[in-house]
Amino acid sequence: MTTTKNDKPQLQTSYRTHTCNELNKNDAGKTITVCGWVHRRRDHGSIIFIDLRDRYGITQLIFDPKINKHLHIQGDMLRSEWTIKVVGKVRLRSDGMINSKLSTGEIEIEVTELDILSSAKTPPFSICDEFIDINEDLRLTYRYLDLRRGELLNNQLMRGKATAIMRNFFDNKGFLNVETPILTKSTPEGARDYIVPARVAKGTFYALPQSPQIFKQLLMIGGVDRYYQIARCFRDEDLRADRQPEFTQLDVEMSFIEKEDIIAIIEELLGKIFKECLNIDIPKHFQHMSYDECLDKYGTDKPDLRYDLSFVRIDDIIKRSNFSIIKDQLGIGGIVKAMTIPNGGQFSRKDIDDFINLVSKFGLQGLAWMKMTDGYLTSNIVKFFDEKLQNELIEKTKVKDGDLILIAASTESVVNQSLDHLRRHIANKMELAEKDKLAFLWVTDFPLFELDSESGMPTSTHHPFTMPMKKDLHLLDSEPLKVKSNAYDVVLNGFEIGGGSIRIHNQDVQRKIFEILNLTGDEIEQKFGFFIRALQFGTPPHGGIALGIDRLIMLLTNSSSIRDVICFPKTQKAADIMMECPSFVAKSQLDDLGITIVYKK
Ligand code: AMO
Repeated sequence: MTTTKNDKPQLQTSYRTHTCNELNKNDAGKTITVCGWVHRRRDHGSIIFIDLRDRYGITQLIFDPKINKHLHIQGDMLRSEWTIKVVGKVRLRSDGMINSKLSTGEIEIEVTELDILSSAKTPPFSICDEFIDINEDLRLTYRYLDLRRGELLNNQLMRGKATAIMRNFFDNKGFLNVETPILTKSTPEGARDYIVPARVAKGTFYALPQSPQIFKQLLMIGGVDRYYQIARCFRDEDLRADRQPEFTQLDVEMSFIEKEDIIAIIEELLGKIFKECLNIDIPKHFQHMSYDECLDKYGTDKPDLRYDLSFVRIDDIIKRSNFSIIKDQLGIGGIVKAMTIPNGGQFSRKDIDDFINLVSKFGLQGLAWMKMTDGYLTSNIVKFFDEKLQNELIEKTKVKDGDLILIAASTESVVNQSLDHLRRHIANKMELAEKDKLAFLWVTDFPLFELDSESGMPTSTHHPFTMPMKKDLHLLDSEPLKVKSNAYDVVLNGFEIGGGSIRIHNQDVQRKIFEILNLTGDEIEQKFGFFIRALQFGTPPHGGIALGIDRLIMLLTNSSSIRDVICFPKTQKAADIMMECPSFVAKSQLDDLGITIVYKK
């Protein structure tokens, strides 16, 4: 594609003189050639009108029997999605026929030649009805037709624009764009690896990278100083609306920096992206909140701060009440939190039953509730609280007339998870998030380790290369779960759009972390020996971050699923239903790899 002087791409080709979005009243009288798909076909009396569509827009064609009888018969045969080329004369539409919604709405093409390039089967769904609800599996099976519908294409245009901004931004700041391997060794980011059998060394496997983490750190050891990459990552994990098994990161790493340097660069980049993509000025600096505060107030490390609902601990009040069912939870190590919903008094018993149903999916056995009316708490549990305790509850929960208090008691993780989901659900239901509001947040001071729910062993909250806070280094041996890390996540409207950390650049600390993660000396050598050796050769202090590009574009385009910003995504079951993959391979391919498949019962 060449470009003209005013930087507009020159889209003329051997097939066409103009696109379907280019012609206007100034072109009246010209003979032109356009190509595209039959979008709509209307028969008005004897004249046939065709809306011809390409990626750029729509142009109206006219087949008039009075002008050319033979062409009119051919025009009559055209059906939806046939691909055609027409030569014709641009003419002004009569006054009543002007369509001000189209940039080509003042003209039409009087067709003088028609060339049918391809006919089309009737598509499995309508391409021209923008707002119809089509089953997603059908859209994914015929993704190429879904792309013609425009919405996906607009998302891709936004994606292209945002990634171009990223590339320019980092190139201009002296970052080196490096491509790192796809066939590699396991990079621990907390998910299962996708593995690829190696033919040349039978019985051995490559792993696809969960991220370029180790490579970018090796680049820092290699003196690259500033690196970025738009990198594909592969993770075999449970999928959700904001997760894909293969996804794209903007991956960044810098040497001789502190957390503040990374934060400043990412705030500047996001400012540029939102300005240039949406013409929105976002705050120059984002709010910061510690991990502990996030969990206390919102039950999650990615709170949606477009609205206010927050939680308070009321263990102390419950302890002194007669509310035995909930009190019992405290006796077995549980906690109690309350969430006040302004104007929540409007919710019916049925609504509250729905809330209880929702939290039951996260292991919470019930929700207690109270409403405030005329200055008094009401509900069938109020009797368990004497007047003094009721006043304490009112003060702590800041409940007002017309509000609802929801109370959850269980283990800390069940209460947090349940209330987090309930908070998002209620905010949606009450439309609490202001339209177009963007709530950015840096979450900091994460714990270095968390306990794995299955094994009960410490695992890295981020990844094992994250630097512990200096002040906590002495706790590594005695109380590793109390050690905080120098990690930071960036959250937008309740989605984690990026995460990073300052890295360990000392081999002894790195080895100690692997030991705490319960790796034996042999395992450390086998999995990370090369990396520990690299750390011995003069490693600069370094750190970085990765932004999830798919999630960022999902938010930029206001899409409800990450799949809508990826041309060829996988389903929730990690399948490509268009190509029907994953799929079986030929026995000869397995033989080459020395693999025999034995199905476990
Ligand atoms: P992390 O694992 O936090 O960090 O990933 C960085 C960002 O990538 C996005 N992301 C995903 N997007 C779609 N589908 C997924 N399955 C998925 N998983 C993650 C998120 C997330 O914030 N190497 C580190 C970065 C670093 O430390 O520099 C890493 O990968 O938006």
